[in-house]
Amino acid sequence: MTQTLQNKRLLLGITGGIAAYKSPDIVRRLRDAGAEVRVIMTRGATEFITPLTLQAVSANRVHTDLLDVDAEAAMGHIELARWADAIIVAPATADALSRFAQGRADDLLTTLLRASDAPVLVAPAMNQAMWRDPATQDNSKILLQRGYQFVGPAEGAQACGDIGAGRMSEPLAIVDAATALFEQQLLTGQHVVITAGPTRERIDPVRYLSNFSSGKMGFALAEAAVEAGAKVTLIAGPVSLPTPDRVERIDVISATDMLAAAELSAASASVFIAAAAVADFRPRAAAEQKIKKTSDIETMRIDLVKNPDILRSIAESKRSLYCVGFAAETENLLAHARAKLAQKSLNMIVMNDVSRSDIGFAADDNEVVVITSEHAIHLEKTKKRHLARRLIQLISEQVGPGNRA
Ligand code: PMT
Repeated sequence: MTQTLQNKRLLLGITGGIAAYKSPDIVRRLRDAGAEVRVIMTRGATEFITPLTLQAVSANRVHTDLLDVDAEAAMGHIELARWADAIIVAPATADALSRFAQGRADDLLTTLLRASDAPVLVAPAMNQAMWRDPATQDNSKILLQRGYQFVGPAEGAQACGDIGAGRMSEPLAIVDAATALFEQQLLTGQHVVITAGPTRERIDPVRYLSNFSSGKMGFALAEAAVEAGAKVTLIAGPVSLPTPDRVERIDVISATDMLAAAELSAASASVFIAAAAVADFRPRAAAEQKIKKTSDIETMRIDLVKNPDILRSIAESKRSLYCVGFAAETENLLAHARAKLAQKSLNMIVMNDVSRSDIGFAADDNEVVVITSEHAIHLEKTKKRHLARRLIQLISEQVGPGNRA
């Protein structure tokens, strides 16, 4: 048995299907593999199996209610969401998939899914016709797009007498899939350099030009790339975010600093991702002393010069690098993004609409279109951390072990 699940904190969601009778076996196997397991049951699930059984096998109190005062006092739902390294939903009924896809938050399980950044694995279980139903298929596609992982459903004889795809996967297959959540080393052997955050261009000792980038997108990418097994160098403009585990961080202030750090790091890199919002211009010369406001001056001009284009310069100087840019657009979104893909000699560009306040600059969420010479893939609005995992997955499909030149 591998040590992958050793000390992992797993939340098992059980929804109301006949396959719930197998859930205690899943808990037992996860615990045998060294994981700590907490269980959440929907009201429907409690019709099929008792919370007491799950409490006995998990050795933890079972959570069933969003509005349970005692449970909230012991470990509130937000705390539970943060606690989990991964969430497994087994069985996941057709209704559960539909509710997850809608983004509902009207019971404990759906609320936790909204509140958690942890990877989610679902094991669908339903009648074969319900699984084939277009609505269920659409819901599954939505969840896959959001980065949910699926195990099964398996084919075979069903509790209702039908035969086909819809049975919940066996507990062992579910445990294997849970293990794989932590073993997805898609970028093993790759060195990924990521720029993040804004740059600051000095006007005088106390003033600068900058923008609203928080660094969240670039930091989320760094975290996802490390999870995928890459060595990661994160070149960060001035932001107030903690350094993700196992990431080498280089702090910079201006675009010129960022270019110098990028050139140095790119020498040994195989992937370069530019998520930073680099100031396109800087004052021609920063004043040595604080610029004074005198009574005779009503307006003032600052002479600006163009900053180097970091991404373009790196992409053109090292053709073997897989270069990914971000396009921050407010109009003619796809056309402008495609133009940047070509002008900057990129392999991939990730377009985000920065005219919206709910995504893009400083927001926790983003929604993007990933454009290459072959395709344009829309990734719908979700947390930057989820989106980053999807982006890293798409990048790894291009540069992963099977695809290296
Ligand atoms: O940091 P957050 O608050 O999470 O916000 C995320 C984000 C909106 C900043 C991010 O998703 C994003 O869009 N980053 C790119 C911002 C930008 O500068 O876009 P652009 O279209 O102006 O530039 C295109 C590409 O060239 C970008 O990859 C940029 O990093 C790069 N560039 C631009 C100018 C320059 N002088 N050097 C560069 O490397």
